[in-house]
Amino acid sequence: MKQTITRSRRCILYVPGSETRKIEKAAALGADCVCLDLEDGVAPSSKPDARAGIAHALRTLDFRASEKMARINPVGSGLEIEDLASVVPARPDTIVIPKVGDAEQIRRVSLYVSEMESHCGIEPGTIALVGMIESARGLLNLAAIASADLRLEALIFGAEDYAADVGALRTREGLEVLYARSAIVAACAAFGLQAIDLLYLDFRNSDGLRAETLRGAQLGYAGAQVIHPNQVPVVQQVYTPDDAAIAAAQRIVESARENLQAGRGAFALDNKMVDMPVIKSAERVLVRARAAGKIP
Ligand code: COA
Ligand code: MG
Repeated sequence: MKQTITRSRRCILYVPGSETRKIEKAAALGADCVCLDLEDGVAPSSKPDARAGIAHALRTLDFRASEKMARINPVGSGLEIEDLASVVPARPDTIVIPKVGDAEQIRRVSLYVSEMESHCGIEPGTIALVGMIESARGLLNLAAIASADLRLEALIFGAEDYAADVGALRTREGLEVLYARSAIVAACAAFGLQAIDLLYLDFRNSDGLRAETLRGAQLGYAGAQVIHPNQVPVVQQVYTPDDAAIAAAQRIVESARENLQAGRGAFALDNKMVDMPVIKSAERVLVRARAAGKIP
């Protein structure tokens, strides 16, 4: 298992690779990740233009601190090799692989990326992979997918595609995708990956977005996908521990240190029992706060 990934991925903003103006805008929004899309956000006839547009944007635009992601078409679509061939030489930080059904698909992309890295003089292992789980097959193969390759850093839950694949009807409460949504978090936790939550489609409704994002954070997600600039600050705020949460976590971690030194594994703090799981949760809050730049 790899070490816990501390890179902040509170929010992944999608931008169709065919839309130059949106790409320029996205680069300056301060999103943790900007994902230049070649898949479902781009019409089949626009894929060649989108490949060229993404490569050009990666070479010429300043994305500041945002992670530069490119989403290719699914492995087996017949488009993925050309996608990778156009995009990898322009050095994205990360390749997002949609509709992952089995571990072999991740390994194939990784192998191809390795070849491209050596061909283009990019340091081996630089480009990360993120896989999307959005089908029943992907869900059943979760453990194998999550442990498929060392480049893999996160899994994304594609709730709409998943619902369409299993024949679920989407509801506001989301019970129909809860099993998959939770299973992805568990697989990511088991194999040291980050879990990135579903997308909230009603992009003008920020109260609804906040509530849905909070549900994902409560389930254990590290971030969520978005499609519109207005969604970026809402989601990033939910995934940034506030000052009170940071202070409480720091207090737990400090008193745990003292109590452990005194030989106590469980102790009382503010009339509540603290033991290892509480300490671990507090440490996670501090990891998030650090990744978001709120504490050194
Ligand atoms: N990234 C960057 N900028 C974006 C953006 C995005 N994802 N979505 C919208 N914008 C920009 C618009 O260009 C517009 O900028 P302007 O006023 O300077 O021209 C501004 O934000 C406001 O946009 P708005 O008019 O509210 O939305 P819209 O009707 O133009 O677009 C969507 C709505 C959903 C089509 C658009 O948000 C979008 O393309 N999202 C990404 C879709 C996608 O990638 N899907 C596949 C992955 S799930
Ligand atoms: Mg999808």
